[in-house]
This record gives sequence, structure tokens and C-alpha cells, in this order.
Amino acid sequence: MTKPRLWITRRLSDATLERAARDYDVVINYEDEPGTAAQIIAASADFDAIIPCHSEHFSAEVVAQFSPRLKIVANHSVGVDHCDLDALKARGIAVTNTPDVLSDATAELAMLLMLGAARHAVAGDRIVRTGAWDSWSPAFMVGKQVTGSRLGIIGMGRVGQAFAAKARGFGMDIHYYNRSELPADQALGATYHKSIESLLSVADFLSLHCPATPETTDVMNADRFALLPKGAVVVNTARGALVDENALMAALDSGHVAAAGLDCFKVEPGGNPAFAQYDNIFMLPHIGSATRKTRDAMGFRALDNLDAFFAGRAPGDLL
Ligand code: DGY
Repeated sequence: MTKPRLWITRRLSDATLERAARDYDVVINYEDEPGTAAQIIAASADFDAIIPCHSEHFSAEVVAQFSPRLKIVANHSVGVDHCDLDALKARGIAVTNTPDVLSDATAELAMLLMLGAARHAVAGDRIVRTGAWDSWSPAFMVGKQVTGSRLGIIGMGRVGQAFAAKARGFGMDIHYYNRSELPADQALGATYHKSIESLLSVADFLSLHCPATPETTDVMNADRFALLPKGAVVVNTARGALVDENALMAALDSGHVAAAGLDCFKVEPGGNPAFAQYDNIFMLPHIGSATRKTRDAMGFRALDNLDAFFAGRAPGDLL
């Protein structure tokens, strides 16, 4: 039987690529550059399936130029804001993502960012590394304690819940805003807030875990930063679209927000060059899910979705 033809747009884990090569007539972009609009449009004529990452953009304009061959876009990501789902579905193209498998890795990174932002990781590392550490004082690099503080989570889905589980281990008092209240066996004692405004008023630490949609764009704007308790720490491992970056800098300048930990930026790759002057922004380059274990799991989940689709079954993660 002829194997379906598959384009893998980026360098996925070795185990994923081996399995893909075994089961599909696969072309792998070993050069690992993001797929351009022109490449994606051309691929729609040459391939039955694509496994893209969030670096490939399936806008309505791109999808409108597709040839009829492409049948499924099996994303190697949980976030699908790089895909115009309506446009893809209107063309009868199945779309899947990779939920669950990256929740712990992303929550671990959120914890790293929260702790690093709270305890001056950027300035502390620099002062030791550059040999500038020439004194010590009890007033030196005093940070904000996580243990016993209130943590506000916007978006209590899989990643939000995984982060809450880790934060419980740090003795944090968990509060959350979500479109709907979680059942008790998932909330595990976390306090539900019906509005973001109510949540922000108690969030000594705030962590964002909701998807990027038109409704959540700049969900943290100047008015919302002002609602946080003075000295709050803000963490974003979800999407850059959620934060008004100028409003964040204004809140840091005024001291209302003490620090931020960011893995996501409006512009990626690259981030916001203006952030570089802030020692109280601890930044990483969108690596929330970047562990070996999770990369394998994401790749296998994307392939599981493809296997189901080409076997005539509904993929587990069909959107
Ligand atoms: C995701 O899966 O959405 C991560 O941000 C990596 O793309």
C-alpha cells in the first residue's frame, strides 16, 4: 500500500523522525528553518499531511491558496493560534494538536521563571559571573517569598492545573480564573474567581496559562496590571499575545509590578529588545516544552493523530 506523503517542517526529536520515516513517505526539513507561506502553499500540492510547529503560519490567506491534496495538519504544539482553524476546516482539512504531554514541562518552566523573577536571578547571575560581586549585606538582593503567597492563575486547563500542583508543593494559596469553575476533584482546594479583575486583586504572583485568541489578546493591559497587589510578580509561559508589553514595562517602571518571568513574546523569535534593560525580567526563548521526554511525547502524539486519521478513525486530538 502506498504510504501517505508527509512533510515535517522542523527538526523534531530523533525518535519521532525515525517513526515517521518508518510509517510515512516523509520529507523532513533538516535545515530547521521555519516554513514560509510559499513553502506551505507548495506543500499542499505535494503532501497528504503536514506536521508543523507553531513557527509555521496557516493564515486564511495562505489556506485560500492551497491545492486540494492536503488532508491533515497534525500540529506539534498544543497552541494552535498559528492556524486559522475556520479556514482549514472550511477546506475540509483536519487539524490536531498535542495537549497533555507538555503540561509538566511547561509548568516546570513556569516555576523556574516565577522563582527566578522573585529572587533576582538575572542580576544575581550577572554579578557573580562578571566578578562584580565584591560585598554582601542583609539588604542585598532581597526578593519576594513564594511560600505562603497567593498565586493567581488565568486559564486552569491542563498546564494551569499542572502548575497549581507544583505550586502547592511550595505552600502557595492557589486562586484561579477560568471560563468555568472546575469540579472539586480538579480544583483541589483552589479558589475560583468569576472575573479576572477579582483574581488579580489577590494575585501576589500571577501566571498565564490560557490560549491566545482574539478575546485574550492583551488580557494583561495597563488597567489590569494596576489591579494587582503592589509588588506582584507576573509569569507568562503561554503566548506573547496575552501581554501588552508596553503596559508591563510601565508597571515595572512604576514599581507596581516587581518582576516578570517570560518565555513568550509578541515577536518571536527575537523577543522585545526593550526588555533587555530590565534586570527584573527573567527571560527564556519559548522553551516551555523543550525537554527530551516531552519532545518525544509531542512527536509521538502528532504521529498517533496521523495514524488514526489515515486508518479511517477520528484522531484523538481532532480540533
Ligand atoms: C505549544 O505546544 O503550544 C508550545 O508553545 C510549543 O509550540
